Amino acid sequence: MDFDFTNKVAIATGAASGMAKLYLENLADLGAITVFVDINKESVEAAAAAVREKGHKAYAYVADIRKHTEVCAVVDDVMAKEKRIDILLNSAGGASARVCKQPAFPYCSYESIEWGVDVNLKGAIFFARAVMPHMLEQKSGVIINMSSIDGITGSKGAVDYGAEKAGMVGLTKGLSIVGAPNGVRSVSVAPGPVLTRAAMANMKTPLGRAAEVQEVVDLLVYLSSERAAYITGCNYQIDGGRACMIGTNS
Ligand SMILES: NC(=O)c1ccc[n+]([C@@H]2O[C@H](COP(=O)([O-])OP(=O)(O)OC[C@H]3O[C@@H](n4cnc5c(N)ncnc54)[C@H](O)[C@@H]3O)[C@@H](O)[C@H]2O)c1
Repeated sequence: MDFDFTNKVAIATGAASGMAKLYLENLADLGAITVFVDINKESVEAAAAAVREKGHKAYAYVADIRKHTEVCAVVDDVMAKEKRIDILLNSAGGASARVCKQPAFPYCSYESIEWGVDVNLKGAIFFARAVMPHMLEQKSGVIINMSSIDGITGSKGAVDYGAEKAGMVGLTKGLSIVGAPNGVRSVSVAPGPVLTRAAMANMKTPLGRAAEVQEVVDLLVYLSSERAAYITGCNYQIDGGRACMIGTNS
């Protein structure tokens, strides 16, 4: 399938690493102007610089998506420079127990729960809030929200994370209703284990393996493209069948 993102302006959060980084690298190769957003200064600047070295236009922004002033500053600057925003991937996030090095719920700290809600859900809502008026005005746009299979099945190892990722599915539905009259689509993607970290290979799936990062990115690229023009308001599980293992997951 051919994809053409020539001159499309694509923003991804959490783009210093993992799926969002590879996603923007793929879009840049397909013609997009890419905007890497992350809290990790060194890594986000290196990611955008690598794309520029290949001859593509790419920006790096250091921002904490938990702060709406920082989110708005990114969006305002991109609009000032490029005059449009076509795609937003809300990908920054992670399970609080892992990132904040806490025991599993309910023995984790309240601060770690706050971190998770703020990064996994609030930051995505802030970013959608900031880009949506521009997309509505230009009468086109796509917002993709990164959920997780834990948001569909729940997880005894990541109770708060599952709630936040279920919130991404709800966010997607609301955005799609608001956006549809003006040609703005929204979808969520709920991966099972993805090999952005080697440890993900330990999570069980009926297919017996974790996903390669490119496998999820292929779906993200398709959903971002004109080929997916009739798709909005829904969630795509890409989990090797893990959601069929209710009661056995952790
Ligand atoms: N990897 C998996 O197996 C998997 C499975 C299901 C869902 N997910 C979800 O997919 C998304 C991407 O996962 P990944 O493994 O590619 O990510 P990753 O862990 O490689 O990268 C996450 C990025 O988010 C950034 N970030 C953290 N806090 C931030 C903040 N406050 N502001 C801005 N950036 C911030 C980090 O610096 C990091 O670069 C996450 O939301 C994750 O929860 C991942």
